[in-house]
Amino acid sequence: MIKIKSAVEIDKIRKSCEIVAETLKLLKRHIQPGVTTIELDKIAYDFIIKKGAIPAFLGYRGYPATICVAINEIVVHGIPDNGKLKEGDIIGVDMGVKFNGYYGDAAITVGVGEISKKAKEIMDITERALYKGIKKCFEGNHLSDISHAIQTNAEENGFSVVRRFVGHGIGTELHEEPSILNYGPPNMGPVLKNGMVFAIEPMVNQGTHEVEVLDDKWTVVTKDRKLSAHFEHTVAITENGPLILTQIEILKNK
Ligand code: MF3
Ligand code: CO
Repeated sequence: MIKIKSAVEIDKIRKSCEIVAETLKLLKRHIQPGVTTIELDKIAYDFIIKKGAIPAFLGYRGYPATICVAINEIVVHGIPDNGKLKEGDIIGVDMGVKFNGYYGDAAITVGVGEISKKAKEIMDITERALYKGIKKCFEGNHLSDISHAIQTNAEENGFSVVRRFVGHGIGTELHEEPSILNYGPPNMGPVLKNGMVFAIEPMVNQGTHEVEVLDDKWTVVTKDRKLSAHFEHTVAITENGPLILTQIEILKNK
């Protein structure tokens, strides 16, 4: 069952989402060559606690950190460590918080210093695919219209979308129904209704869409070790159309 949220509940989700967006904005400022992902994790943790919120990923199914990081060929769920970011890397940062009983979840991919044209392109296309998906969040559309828009946009630009991980409903749980695939035909699945809240999160690869999980049981990498990018927003479907709850200006890469 896909839960329909009241305006009051959406407002609570919005508060969590604002903390997520502010944390990502803060992290973005710290993403520089030489910084370690453990340092980024600590910055995020301290900020979230200062805001009176709870890091949503820490302890989730045993996940050991506040943020998930995904450098270059890492798709999602990389664990922060002592490795330093290098000029030319791209790093995905995915994070969620719980505040007053409601969750918010978002991810961005950011370039470290000067990055290659190809790296810039995969980031731009992934973010654009996310926005194309968000634009389908109107009552009366079908769930897979979101999926189809994402896939079409990524593939017409020569990239592939990851099949193994998907977006999700969000609210009093981090992961609620439905699963939101980033691929598929249009016009399938449940009809969208005002009051649904979704975390939409395309993961886009430069080469094959296939992925592998490393021995740490968390880190997901591309099978061919080519680049991958990830963007995510929490979005409410409202009578005025899609409301991007994790949006603040800085989340846009351009
Ligand atoms: N960000 C992921 C999602 O959007 C969740 C990360 S799983 C965790 O669904 F274990 F790292 F928390
Ligand atoms: Co998510």
